[in-house]
Formats: sequence, structure tokens, C-alpha cells
Amino acid sequence: MLDQSHLVRHMETLSAEEQMSLVSQIEEMDLSVLNETGEEEIRGIFSPLDALTLSQIAENRAHYKQLGLDAIRQGKVGAVLLAGGQGSRLGFKKPKGMFNIGVNRELSIFECLMRNLMTVTKEADAPVPLFVMTSADNNRETREFFEANNYFGYSSDNVWFFMQEQLPTLDRNGKLMLADRCSIRTAPNGNGGWYASMAKTGMLEVVRKSKIEWLNVFAVDNVLQQIADPCFIGAVIDSGRVSGAKVVAKAAPDEKVGVICLEDGKPSIVEYYEMTEEMRTLRTEDGRLAYNYGVILNYLFRVDKLNQTLGAHLPLHRAFKAIPYMDADGAMISPESPNAYKFETLALDMVRLQDDCLVFEVERDKEFAPVKNKTGVDSVDTARELLRKNGVEL
Ligand code: UTP
Repeated sequence: MLDQSHLVRHMETLSAEEQMSLVSQIEEMDLSVLNETGEEEIRGIFSPLDALTLSQIAENRAHYKQLGLDAIRQGKVGAVLLAGGQGSRLGFKKPKGMFNIGVNRELSIFECLMRNLMTVTKEADAPVPLFVMTSADNNRETREFFEANNYFGYSSDNVWFFMQEQLPTLDRNGKLMLADRCSIRTAPNGNGGWYASMAKTGMLEVVRKSKIEWLNVFAVDNVLQQIADPCFIGAVIDSGRVSGAKVVAKAAPDEKVGVICLEDGKPSIVEYYEMTEEMRTLRTEDGRLAYNYGVILNYLFRVDKLNQTLGAHLPLHRAFKAIPYMDADGAMISPESPNAYKFETLALDMVRLQDDCLVFEVERDKEFAPVKNKTGVDSVDTARELLRKNGVEL
């Protein structure tokens, strides 16, 4: 193993308390990242997976919706907002949900999402318990923002916050990094650990005491996100499957999205860079792309099945990012470009742990407006345009 003694370089300058804090951080830290080779895992055999298409959904909309609304009214549906990310591409210093997507008025991303959720809870005339995942960096600000905004009109009794865990970051040479003289630079461990973090933080006790049977997990950064969508929930229940994924048809064969498919007969997501040219261009008999459906980070999972997969291994992905750190001379460095690796498990890898999954097609222009970048693709501008198209006043 690499020498990591630089971590205690400033030991002599630390107070007894600071020394204790550094030592216990090192002792308690999950150091499995040190064994990561950076090699992508070997995947199984992929085959296409059909979706419930827009037209099929339209034919049964009333039935699905009724089933979904009934489930919500019976308290069977909870929602999980994944808001622990760092949003580094957007370059906004606060939690991404606090970003003002409004133009002539204040409209935070959080408010947008809560409004979408409340459209459903008003129609159902029943609440959907909401679990908000934060991380060490943004937990306090997120909670305070909800408080300051009176939970956007939602009842605070139906909102729980929980924190995800952190993993250490590594520099190009595989060395752990310091955040300051007495702490190690860590980063949120990705959105794949949300259920494990719910377990660790007591949230599953809340679920257990409730009637929740389904959890709809979704990303903070899609401002057109339809949360606890009764039609989606109803369709999954009707299908008898244990999970569901909202998807959009690919805009082009080489669009850079993860595509839902089967891997060794199990539902799975293949990343765009893992697809061969043949997979990218393969067509069905009726001319559609065989690998056609991109995931948008909106899944429905059945709680009893999630419980069975708690503790199951999820692959650790590494991402090369601009990560601030303290250098050998004790100077704080804030790099402009990527300098180090952070490690993440991904929610999309949880799909592979499910026996089956209903692939549920939605209209891109109505449900998918991601805010990832400052400008260009999937940016503030493109999201605003889509919000306007959907009649949201900005
Ligand atoms: P992204 O993959 O876009 O990551 O997150 P990010 O950290 O927010 O953004 P970049 O890559 O630094 O620009 C997709 C969703 O998963 C959540 C995010 O908050 C977002 O809703 N997420 C991501 C977490 O909750 N925790 C994480 O550790 C990472």
C-alpha cells in the first residue's frame, strides 16, 4: 500500500483535540477506495428491454392513474429526493436545489420540485412522505432553506432529512488528500448509497412504522421532475413488477445517456460509452432503436425488495474532479480543472439488483429538464426554456 504518512505531516502544530479528531477520522474512514484500480468492471451479456410506450400508457392512463392515486391515499408511496451531490459542473456554491431558476422572480429548484409534488398530493388529497438526502457539505443549508421557505407550503411533518456518507478522495498518485491541517478531504459517496444511508440514519424505522410500500427516488436537478406520478406508480403496480424506471426515447443513436436494457437477463443500465456501435444502431422490426430508452433518474422501488438487497455490493465508480485541498506547505489550493478522484456508487446500479423493472416512457419535453451545466447542453438556459414551454412563469 502507498505511504500515506503525509496525512500526519502537520501533527505537531495541532492541539490535542485536533490530533484526536484527525486520528479518529483516519480510524473510522472507509478506506476501500485505496484498493480501487480504476478498471471498469466486466459487464455481462446485454439484450434489449422493451418499454411501456407513450401510446400504450395513453390507452390505459385512467386505469393506471386510479391505481396510483389509490396507493398514495393508502399511504403506500414515499419519495426520496437525492440532493447530496456537489453540483460541481453548475459551479453554484450552495446546494443545487437553492439555485434560482426564475428570471423575473425567485423560483428555486427546490420550490419547483415541491410544487410538482404538491400537484399530486392535492389531487390525491393525501400526503407523500418525502425523504431528502443531503451530504455533509450541504445538509445545514438545505434544511435551513426549507425552514426559511416554510417547506414551500408542504407540511414539515411529512419531510425528513438524512445525510449520506462520505468517501475519501485520492490525488493522481493515489494519495489521500488533506482538507485542512486536521481533516482528510472527503466527498459524498454518490447517489447509490441512498437506501443504505436511510438505514443508517434511522429513516427505515420511519418507513417501517408507516404504510409505505414503494419509494420513488429522483434527482434534484430535473426541474420538470414528476414526483410520485400516479400514472407511473399505477402502471408499475399493474405490471406486478418490483421496480420501475422513467425513461425518454433517445434523441439520436449516439446520445450520451445511460440506456436501460437487460444484462444477463436482469434489468440493467448500460452507459453510452459501454455500448458497441452495433448496440447503438440496432433496430427492432418496426424500425425503432433496440436500445432506445435513456434513464432520467426517476425510479420506483418496492420496499420489501430494497430490504432484501440492503448491503449488496454496488460497483464504485471514480470521477476525476476539481477538488480543493491543502498542499504540503499548508497552502489551500482550489484547482480550476480536475486534479483528483472522488468515488461514487450510483442509483442506476440498484436496478440490476431488482428481479424486474417496468420501463415507463415519458415525454422528454414534459418531464426532463436537467440543470447540469452553466451553459450549453442540459444547462440553466435549456431548463428555463423547457419550463416556459410547460407554462411555468419565470
Ligand atoms: P450528478 O451525477 O449530476 O452529480 O447527480 P452532482 O454531484 O450533483 O453534480 P456534478 O457531477 O458535480 O456536476 C445526480 C443526482 O444525484 C444526486 C445529485 O444531488 C443529483 O440529484 N447526488 C449525486 C447525491 O445525492 N449524492 C451524491 O453523492 C451524488
